[in-house]
Amino acid sequence: MQLPFPLAEAPDDATLEHARKLFAGQSEFLKGVVAMSGLPPADRLEVCFAGRSNVGKSSLINALTGTKALARASNTPGRTQEINFFTQGPELYLVDLPGYGYANAPLDKVEKWQRLLKQYLSGRPTLRRAFVLIDTRHGIKAVDQEILKLLDSSAVTFQCVMTKADKVKDKERDKVLSQVRDALSKHPAAYPEIVMTSSEKGWGIPTLRSIIATLE
Ligand code: GTP
Ligand code: MG
Repeated sequence: MQLPFPLAEAPDDATLEHARKLFAGQSEFLKGVVAMSGLPPADRLEVCFAGRSNVGKSSLINALTGTKALARASNTPGRTQEINFFTQGPELYLVDLPGYGYANAPLDKVEKWQRLLKQYLSGRPTLRRAFVLIDTRHGIKAVDQEILKLLDSSAVTFQCVMTKADKVKDKERDKVLSQVRDALSKHPAAYPEIVMTSSEKGWGIPTLRSIIATLE
């Protein structure tokens, strides 16, 4: 029997090449957005990256775009509550969502942020996929579940991307993977493949680029 939520397979050469070309284009920070009215025009394909604070969202965007500090550069204090838009060539937006789940965040800020996230996820016609990043050491936590629930109700397919795979041994990874599969099986909006990545080592990056490059 096939496992539910298998790891994404390596793409074929033509897909890899297409993806390589897409991501060889110029990547730039466009803007940080705090309200729906600030969103750039929905004039191209868009994917977003969500996940707990420190899970590796910015590092993943840097790895995808082959830059060292693109996403980090915009991550100045005070901007952390913004939705950060990056252009990848003329055809794609990569969107870095603020991390959730950090301790001590004031409740009114959390609520404001959740409202914006909800509006963004359900009101962005060009948003093709939400990548939800999960730390391979920790698996899916209660705060992640909140976001998965939100995604279930917002008509955007989400795909789970495991991060920091270089930090765990195979046995630990497999244990966490089965927890993640179990949790995902309860979410109708979950795309039925998981991507295992390490931004540090470059693992899974060509595969994730290919997934993005073949979205329509
Ligand atoms: P917020 O913007 O605060 O929500 O965090 P983030 O999700 O953008 O995480 P970020 O990319 O800033 O990474 C957090 C820390 O994890 C940094 O110290 C990174 O160097 C480290 N990190 C990210 N990805 C990897 C990885 O693949 N492997 C290892 N070993 N460390 C990583
Ligand atoms: Mg970040």
